[in-house]
Amino acid sequence: MDIGIGLFGLGTVGSGVVKILQDNADQIAKRTGTHLLVKHAVVNNLEKKRTGFINNFPITNDAKDILNNPEIQIVVEVMGTLDQAYKIIKDSLTAKKHVVTANKDLIASRGQELVAIAEANGVDLFFEAAVAGGIPILRTLANSFTADEISRVAGIINGTSNFILTQMTTNKLSYANALQLAQKKGFAEADPTNDVAGFDAAYKLIILSNFAFGVQPALDDLTINGITHLTDADIEDANAFGYAVKLLGVAQRVGQDANAISIDVSPYLVPFTHPLATVHNENNAVLVNGESVGEIMLYGPGAGELPTANSVLSDLTNIATDIALNTPGRPFNSFNQNLDIAKPSQ
Ligand code: HSE
Repeated sequence: MDIGIGLFGLGTVGSGVVKILQDNADQIAKRTGTHLLVKHAVVNNLEKKRTGFINNFPITNDAKDILNNPEIQIVVEVMGTLDQAYKIIKDSLTAKKHVVTANKDLIASRGQELVAIAEANGVDLFFEAAVAGGIPILRTLANSFTADEISRVAGIINGTSNFILTQMTTNKLSYANALQLAQKKGFAEADPTNDVAGFDAAYKLIILSNFAFGVQPALDDLTINGITHLTDADIEDANAFGYAVKLLGVAQRVGQDANAISIDVSPYLVPFTHPLATVHNENNAVLVNGESVGEIMLYGPGAGELPTANSVLSDLTNIATDIALNTPGRPFNSFNQNLDIAKPSQ
């Protein structure tokens, strides 16, 4: 069975997706019983040179070329901007096309609304790549804890801050020099606020909290502290006492009956002997504590062309299987457990 794919965005992640689809086409066909074929790509900038894959499909800048194409059953949205992505995804779902996106800001802020539109149209909306790049954390939370009770999810989910903190610890760089290096290596943006002030981690933690606990927090429900107020001396002192400083996103059960969830992004002191302290540079890791499983940690690249594209491919192949078995419209996140969200203390 042939399944047509329409791509919105052919930047780093989009190009990685096309490359894996082309390079691993036989394996994907054997394992899903379907042929995943890119039929069209829509981009903002038609002038940009694109390499690393065979360009055997049209590239235009009109969304209708994908939305009105009956051969396209799955839309991949990796264009990034909030309003444009919202419209693309909503229009695609309404046109009864399955959607895969990597857009964490959008899913964290309007995911519930989009999931409802997907369900109403009997199609899948998956977004594994939105959290922790190449780490398959969402599908793990959604599929592997149905019979367990998660008590805490905690992780290093912003590679840029982790790179800066690692460089301040291992190479004794100042905050300013570590940030500059992060910018030079392409991890941090020219305006690094989203990463270093904790917002990127907050969006990812909102999604993780939804999958682990079924809650739908807003940004205001979180305590958010980035790494900008840390001094070089703070890091030195922590290191001297045997601790690494790590920006962690932590969502955990609190209260007498553990029926509320507190959600915060803050720098934590982590003993050098703890597994999270061994997560260096731009890598990510997520710890999950469950009553039956105890503690597990998933570790890996939190960004990058092929790791992030692999998460998109995981969504694509799951949808392909749903189409082949005629079982689409699967909810991706976990069930609601009716837990309260503990408000941040002032
Ligand atoms: N800016 C993000 C980070 C990229 O530093 O982790 C991946 O979401």
